[in-house]
Amino acid sequence: MYLFYSLKKAAATLVAGCFLATAQPVNAQVITIPVETAHHAFLLQVDGEKNLSTVYFGKKLADAKEYNEVAAMHKSSADYSGQLNSAYTTAGSRNLAEPAIAVTHADGNMSLDLKYVSHQLTKVDEDVALLTVNLKDPVYDVEVTLYYKSYFKEDVVEQWSAIKNLEKGNISLQKFASANLYVQAKSYWLRQYHGDWAKEMQPEEKELSHGIKVLDSKLGSRANLFQPSVFMISIDKPASEDEGTVLYGSLEWSGNFRIDLEVDPQDNLRIIAGINNYASPYLLKAGEEFTTPPFLYTLSDKGKGEASRKLQRWAREYKLLDGKGSRLTLLNNWEATAFGFNESKLKELLKDTKTLGVDLFLLDDGWFGNKFPRNDDHAGLGDWQENVKKLPNGIASLVKEAQNTGVKFGIWIEPEMVNPQSELYKKHPDWVVKQAGRPEYYFRNQLVLDLANPKVQDFVYSIVDSLFIKSPNLAYIKWDCNAVIYNAYSTFLKKDQSRFYVEYVRGLYKVLQRIRTKYPSVPMMLCSGGGGRVDYGALQYFTEFWPSDNTDPLERIFMQWEYSYFYPAMATANHVTDWGKQPLKFRVDVAMMGRLGFDIVISKLAGNDLAFCQDAVKNYNSLKPVIWQGDQYRLSDPVTESVAAVMYVDTTKTSAVIFNYLVNNRYGRGNRLPIKLKGLDPAKRYSLKEINLYPGSSSPMDGKKTYSGDFLMTVGFDPGISTNKTSAVVQLTEAK
Ligand code: DGJ
Repeated sequence: MYLFYSLKKAAATLVAGCFLATAQPVNAQVITIPVETAHHAFLLQVDGEKNLSTVYFGKKLADAKEYNEVAAMHKSSADYSGQLNSAYTTAGSRNLAEPAIAVTHADGNMSLDLKYVSHQLTKVDEDVALLTVNLKDPVYDVEVTLYYKSYFKEDVVEQWSAIKNLEKGNISLQKFASANLYVQAKSYWLRQYHGDWAKEMQPEEKELSHGIKVLDSKLGSRANLFQPSVFMISIDKPASEDEGTVLYGSLEWSGNFRIDLEVDPQDNLRIIAGINNYASPYLLKAGEEFTTPPFLYTLSDKGKGEASRKLQRWAREYKLLDGKGSRLTLLNNWEATAFGFNESKLKELLKDTKTLGVDLFLLDDGWFGNKFPRNDDHAGLGDWQENVKKLPNGIASLVKEAQNTGVKFGIWIEPEMVNPQSELYKKHPDWVVKQAGRPEYYFRNQLVLDLANPKVQDFVYSIVDSLFIKSPNLAYIKWDCNAVIYNAYSTFLKKDQSRFYVEYVRGLYKVLQRIRTKYPSVPMMLCSGGGGRVDYGALQYFTEFWPSDNTDPLERIFMQWEYSYFYPAMATANHVTDWGKQPLKFRVDVAMMGRLGFDIVISKLAGNDLAFCQDAVKNYNSLKPVIWQGDQYRLSDPVTESVAAVMYVDTTKTSAVIFNYLVNNRYGRGNRLPIKLKGLDPAKRYSLKEINLYPGSSSPMDGKKTYSGDFLMTVGFDPGISTNKTSAVVQLTEAK
C-alpha cells in the first residue's frame, strides 16, 4: 500500500503547449507533460519518486492548467504497485500487471525499474511535434527513451521506444513493446479482425472483460493471414459512425505483433503494443540500442467515421508512398489466364489494355523459371529468369511492345520465396528458412528465404534492380508473399536464433529502402496472397495493397468497408473479376471505390459490356481526385441495412460521388428510406446525376434538379436501389 505514489496532492509544473523545444531538468517534485493534438490530449506525469505515469487520456481540455486536477477526481481502489498507469511498465520489480518491457541483465538478474531522467519537446513543423522522454534504471545500466510523435491536425500519435544496453555484458530483452497506453473509462468495446485466405477483415465487436485479451501474430512473413494488428476501442459504449469516443490502433510492423488489452483491477484499460516477443528474446549486446517500430493511434469523440477520415488523411500526408500523387488503372492477367500464357497471348492482352482504356498491363505469376518452369505453383520460385518457351524475347521486348501499344507494363514478383523445385534452392540451401534434421513443411508448396542474411537481402534487391536495369520503362511491381514461416531457423544467425523474426522484417525493410533509394516513385502493390500483410510499416514503401483474392463484389463491399476504417481508398487495389454472381456493372461499381483495376478477359466481353467498361474507366478518371484525395463517409452499413452506401467528398465540398449497392434482397428489399448524405456544405446547392449507366438503361434521377446540402444531409436522396437496379453510382456537383 505504501508503494502507491499518490499524485493527487503534489504540486505540479506544467509544460504548456505542444510545440516548445525544451529540455526539462528534474527540478520540481511533480512534472506534468501533456501531449496534445487538435482535439485530444494525454498527460504524462512524473512523481516525486521519478516514476512516469499516464494520468489523462482523452478529449483535450480548454484550459491546460486543469489537467493537474484530473487525478484528484478519480476514486480508484488501491494500486498496490503504483505501476498500473505506468507509461512504460517494467517487469521484475514491483509491477503486478502485464509489462511493456522485460529484461534479463548481463548478471542474470531479471528486474527492471525505470525512472524519469529528462524530456524534450521539439517542434518538427507546424503540424508535427516530437516528445522524447528519457528513463533509466537506477540499479542497472539500461536506458529507455520513449518517443511520442504527434500530428496535430490529424489527431494522430505514433509512439515507440528505444532500449539501450550500457551494461558491460549482453542483456536479453524478453519483452520490448513500442507503446503502453492507459485509458480510464466505464467500459471498453474492442473491434478486432480475423480472417484467412479470401476471408480477410472479418470484424468482431465485444466488450472487454477483466484480464488480458491478446491480438497477435506468430506467422512471421504473411503475418496478417489470421489477424491484422489494426483494432478499435470504443470508450464507454460502442461508437457508431458519427457518435461516440473511439480509438484506432495499429502497429507499423510487417511481422509478428502482439497487442495486450488488459482491463486491470481498477477497471482501467492498459494497452501494450509492439513486436511479438514470442520466440524472440532479443540479445542486445553491450552498447547496442534496440528501436521498436511505431504504434500508431488516433482518437475521435465523433465516432468511427471521423477517426477513419483523420487516419486516411494522415496516411496520405505522411505515410503511404506517394499519398498525394496518382495511381495507375490496370488490366491484370491472373484471374484471366493464371499460368497459361505466352508471348502472343500477352501481346493480345496489351491491345486489350489499350481497348479498355486503362493505363497499364500487369503480368502476374508464371513468367519465369526454365529448368523448373513456373507452370503451376509447385516450381520455379527463386529462378527469376524469363521462361524462354513462354517469353522467348524476354520481358524487355514486352515492355517495348506495351510502349508501342500506348500502355505501360508492370510485373509480378514474389522475391522472398523459393520452391524446393528451383535452381535457387539447390544452389543455396543455406538461404532457406528451414530446420536441418526436420521434415520440410510447405505453405503453397514453397519456403521463405532468410532475409536476416545480408546475402539474401542483396539477392532480393537484385531481382527488382535487374528488372529495371533490363527494362527501364517497367512501370509497376506487384510484390507478393504467399507463405508463412514454418520451422523458423536462420543458418546465417547461427546461435542467435531468437533474433530471427525481428531480423527478418528488418531485412525486408532494408531491401525495400534500397529499392526506394534507387527507384523512389515507381508504383508497387503490396500483396500477400491477398491481404496477408498490410500495415503502415510496409506502406511507406508501397503505393497500394491488395486487400484479398476474394473479389466477389458482394464480399468486397463488406471487406472494403472494414479496410476503409484504417486505409485510404487510393491505397486499396480493387479489381473487377469473374468472382461472384453479380452483374458486370455491380462488379465495376464496387471496384471503383479504390484504385480501379480489371482482371477479366476483355476480348470476350459482349459489345455492351465492353462499352460499359470503357465508359466506366472514363468516369473513374474524372472521379479520381475525389475518390483518392477526398473525405470518405460511410452512409449506410451493409451489415445492418439492405443497401450499402459510401460517399467521397472533395475537400472544397464542391463535388462528391456516392456508391450504392443492394446487399440483401430478401422480401424484395431496396432502400426504403432516403440515403442521408454527409460532409456537404449545408448552404450550397448540388445537382445529382447517375453515372456508370449500363448501355440502354436510364436513370430516374433528374440531373437538372438542385438540392441544398442541408436537404441532402437532413432528408437524403433516393438512389433507386432495388432488385431491378442493384447498384448506382451518383455524381454530385455544386450547382453554380
Ligand atoms: C496470390 C495473389 O493474391 C494473387 O493475386 C496472384 O498474384 C497469385 N498469388 C499468383 O500466384
